[in-house]
Amino acid sequence: MSNRMWGGRFASGPAEIMEEINASIGFDKRLAPQDIRGSLAHVAMLGAAGILPAEDVAAIEAGLKSVRDEIEAGRFVFKRELEDIHMSVESRLTEIVGPAAGRLHTARSRNDQVATDMKLWVRDTLDSLDQQAADLQRALAETALKHAGTVMPGFTHLQSAQPVTFGHHCLAYVEMLARDRGRFRDARARLNECPLGAAALAGTSFPIDRHATAAALGFDRPTANSLDSVADRDFALESLAAASICAVHLSRFAEELVVWTSAQFNFVKLSDGYTTGSSIMPQKRNPDAAELVRAKSGRIIGALTGLLVVMKGLPLAYSKDMQEDKEGTFDALQALSLCLAAMTGMVKDLEPNADVLARAAGSGYATATDLADWLVRELGLPFRQAHHVTGRLVGAASAKGVGLEALSLSEMQEAEPRITDAVYAVLGVANSVASRTSYGGTAPDNVRAQAQSWIERLG
Ligand code: ARG
Repeated sequence: MSNRMWGGRFASGPAEIMEEINASIGFDKRLAPQDIRGSLAHVAMLGAAGILPAEDVAAIEAGLKSVRDEIEAGRFVFKRELEDIHMSVESRLTEIVGPAAGRLHTARSRNDQVATDMKLWVRDTLDSLDQQAADLQRALAETALKHAGTVMPGFTHLQSAQPVTFGHHCLAYVEMLARDRGRFRDARARLNECPLGAAALAGTSFPIDRHATAAALGFDRPTANSLDSVADRDFALESLAAASICAVHLSRFAEELVVWTSAQFNFVKLSDGYTTGSSIMPQKRNPDAAELVRAKSGRIIGALTGLLVVMKGLPLAYSKDMQEDKEGTFDALQALSLCLAAMTGMVKDLEPNADVLARAAGSGYATATDLADWLVRELGLPFRQAHHVTGRLVGAASAKGVGLEALSLSEMQEAEPRITDAVYAVLGVANSVASRTSYGGTAPDNVRAQAQSWIERLG
């Protein structure tokens, strides 16, 4: 049998494989709520513009609502031969309301319909990702407030660099997430133009009111060019790009959690709720959730790359290639949602091991910069020379296998005779972090103020 929706000029139906490669119903059925919303807005506009008689509009509206009920109740039977969600809904609508259903597709095409559906789905998803990112920010800011004075080593090159506070480290991710949320909001704002009414590619000769459908669907305005309307997938690309950057941020924190929970670091403890055991090694507490957050960034970036490659070189306007926008977008944005939720759970339960962190903060000559700064401040040495003197002292301490604070004053004075015992005050980790009061620095007072201001802003 030829296709009921477009089979007029076909003598026979599609080959089995044609149907298989062509059908998108397996994955676009999740667009049912958006598809029906779009159709309700479209048919109301057709009625208001006098394009359809009121009784047809009423019948179609009632029919669309029962299709929606059937889908919500799980009673709807999706059939591959109906290709996609648009034709599945219309076909069932025809069964329910009869030939009047055929008038719904006046002045539109599946091309503007699918672009509208996808935009509605992506828009809702961006809004919920933004909320989830805010939840994670809140969890991090609260942890930061609690641990504003908990010292830990700060790293560059994963080598102990300078002591920082645990709260400061948490707030670094709050800042990243703030930029992520800004990108979600930017993507949403640029996305928010309605393609519905662009029809197949050229617009329509019916006197439709695109401003009305745009407003009914919560868009700021209709899209301005019909070709661009059906050919544009920037909104998916941009959302995937924003999602990829956010996923990369989460992967960095996830990696830190993996490293920090190892027996060798032992910086933090994840709760039982966010670790798993091993079936053979009874001592194990594996950070699987963190590992999976780290890993899922791969498929999110993969979806962005995949869709960029699909879109590259596509001539205007719509091509069936664009049907391939869906699985990757759905999967990636859903994966990011799961990652944000898992991260929030881990952060809420996380327990830093303050003693271990303090010990580690003091090891590895992490206060060498404090010593150099002291030489500059107290003895007036140029920083380069202070750096050199400090380097000699680190060498001396390391040759003895001790920390800087274990060098005697006379050993210090061999490198620089003017050093006094006031220097020992800056070699302590607590003094070191407390002295970093520059704006954005790690001093506990700064961290406390920043954490508090984030908690207020996040509400
Ligand atoms: N299932 C299609 C998609 O997702 C809908 C649009 C089909 N348009 C067409 N001209 N065949 O892109």
